[in-house]
Amino acid sequence: MDILYTAIQHAHSGLRWLVLGLLLAAIIKSAGKRRGGSVYPGKDKLALFGMISVHIQLLLGLVLYLWLSPKFNFDGNLMKNPVARFYGVEHLIGMLAAIIVITIGHAKAKRQAELNKGWKTISTWYLIGLILILISIPWPFRNLGAGWF
Ligand code: HEM
Repeated sequence: MDILYTAIQHAHSGLRWLVLGLLLAAIIKSAGKRRGGSVYPGKDKLALFGMISVHIQLLLGLVLYLWLSPKFNFDGNLMKNPVARFYGVEHLIGMLAAIIVITIGHAKAKRQAELNKGWKTISTWYLIGLILILISIPWPFRNLGAGWF
């Protein structure tokens, strides 16, 4: 189980960079087009891959959360241990909120046939999601026992 834990933990940790890169690229592209007079095509690859990448993080995160991670326990002391509280409350709720916001933004944009509107929707909702993700990542300087990769 140790090898599986290490593999999934590193995949989840490293994938953060792909998530951040894809979301940032999707935001920059859609913000650039929000006054360009075009209709959001519905199948924009950057926005789609950005959304898929956060859903993969959700799956890996759930496996860590439910089965593999020793970082928190369910014996009632969750709130007393800062690391356990971070992962069990802040990380979980912040990331779930971000994933929901990004998914709703993507679904809304696909249905908007007016000029510019879908691009605006992607840039706004993805930016909110990205901010939530940046706040909820256990960056090394927050002393939560996590690394850069
Ligand atoms: C876009 C979404 C997410 C990102 C970018 C993200 C990122 C990260 C990062 C960078 C770590 C630190 C890994 C390390 O270096 O040790 C981590 C740990 C963790 N994440 Fe996430 N996460 C996301 C979503 C989730 C979700 C939705 C869950 C739960 C359902 C989750 C559960 C966990 C757990 C349990 C750990 C601790 C793993 C361990 O070290 O034992 N994550 N996450």
